Amino acid sequence: MMRATLGVWILSAAICVGRGHHCLGTGQVKDQADQHTAHDHSASSASLVNSANKEFTYHLYRKLAAHADSQGKNIFFSPISVSVALAALSVGARGETHRQLFRGLGFNSSILTQANVDQAFHALLKIAKSHEETNEGTAVFVDNSFKPHAEFLDVLKQSYFADGFNIDFTNTTDSANTINRYVAEKTRGKIDKLVDSLDPNTVMYLISYIYFKGKWQTPFEPELTKEDEFIVDENTKVPVQMMNMEEDIEYYYDQPINTSVLHLPFNSSYSMLLLLPGDMATLENVISPAHVAKWLKWMKSRRYDIYVPKFSIKSSYKLNDVLTEMGMTDMFDDHADLSGISDLQRLAVSEVVHKATLDVDEAGATATASTGMSITLLSLRLIPALKFNRPFMVIITERNTQETLFIGKIINPNE
Ligand SMILES: *[C@@H]1O[C@H](CO)[C@@H](O)[C@H](O)[C@H]1NC(C)=O
Ligand SMILES: *[C@@H]1O[C@H](CO)[C@@H](O)[C@H](O)[C@H]1NC(C)=O
Ligand SMILES: *[C@@H]1O[C@H](CO)[C@@H](O)[C@H](O)[C@H]1NC(C)=O
Ligand SMILES: *[C@@H]1O[C@H](CO)[C@@H](O)[C@H](O)[C@H]1NC(C)=O
Repeated sequence: MMRATLGVWILSAAICVGRGHHCLGTGQVKDQADQHTAHDHSASSASLVNSANKEFTYHLYRKLAAHADSQGKNIFFSPISVSVALAALSVGARGETHRQLFRGLGFNSSILTQANVDQAFHALLKIAKSHEETNEGTAVFVDNSFKPHAEFLDVLKQSYFADGFNIDFTNTTDSANTINRYVAEKTRGKIDKLVDSLDPNTVMYLISYIYFKGKWQTPFEPELTKEDEFIVDENTKVPVQMMNMEEDIEYYYDQPINTSVLHLPFNSSYSMLLLLPGDMATLENVISPAHVAKWLKWMKSRRYDIYVPKFSIKSSYKLNDVLTEMGMTDMFDDHADLSGISDLQRLAVSEVVHKATLDVDEAGATATASTGMSITLLSLRLIPALKFNRPFMVIITERNTQETLFIGKIINPNE
């Protein structure tokens, strides 16, 4: 619940109902596809954006894996949540800052305009809204004293379905609590503290969130779940609750990378892919959207006795370093050009955080994630058995678009 400290949007496109309620956005969600755009061109730019998002998934995964490897940690995140947040930021970016965001996200600026990208994300978020098991969206929190360009907020509302709030960032505890309550509500309590602390110079906070809850098409039987060992590495074994079923299961063995791929469909168009490699590093170095497409296409059903652990994990990242390594440098320092948000004050991004959760049990899986970005004033800133009993990767994807909602590596389900 938003607190009474929340102000009200003063925006031509949005109608806000009452102090302390968020904008209901009457009339602001205009289907851009209805406008006079060539449908062929918009379809092809949407597919360029979608394939860039797929490539971005593995670029980001490899960066996070490189950072996590030394610590032997699980990895779990939502690439689409990160892409949405960065694309929304790029609406307000100009010059080299904008070029870096586009390059980092894999958008070719000689073919794609910001409007094409906005339209593609609009379509993508609209599809997510039409699916019962997902809830995906964005929000922007703006300081009472800060006046972003109306065009920036309009695009966020229209294309990224952003909820807008005015808050008082001078009280950092109070404003962090407000943002955290919003994210907790959107992720049904799974992520209750996206923001640990806020930079006192924050004037705007941009977030994206995603919630997914799927039921297995074929649930596991709870009576078959037994304690078993999970082999973390040569020296470490940990106890897990191992679920089991013997069923006709879709499976693919990818010989060149010695990886077994198990397909567990949800009772919808979503699926979980579980990847058990002979060697994790080999899989991590080569995995690409083409692999996922090949697996989904060629997997064959046969009877298997499968063992999958029941687990709940949480992850938390500060993405400043990995995004910088991916070439998105200027937004973080005094080279930042966010003049599309405001040109009265110099702005920069002080922090990009990402938190995610994954719960897998006999009935299905629940996965959530949120990406938060604080924008601060620059001048002030600073039968054969297939047993998942050793580290494996996990992907949650939509089968038709093959959009990656979540991806991760489970090294220790008890972490
Ligand atoms: C961007 O698109 C242009 C035109 O199709 C192409 O020549 C160029 O190689 C592309 N750039 C990248 C980085 O893919
Ligand atoms: C900030 O907000 C918290 C919680 O509402 C309140 O307890 C605290 O006194 C406020 N601090 C300032 C400096 O206003
Ligand atoms: C799957 O969905 C269908 C239709 O929505 C429903 O009839 C069926 O009971 C569901 N199965 C499970 C295992 O939830
Ligand atoms: C493939 O991985 C398995 C472990 O899952 C290993 O026993 C086997 O030797 C590997 N095969 C090849 C060809 O590397």
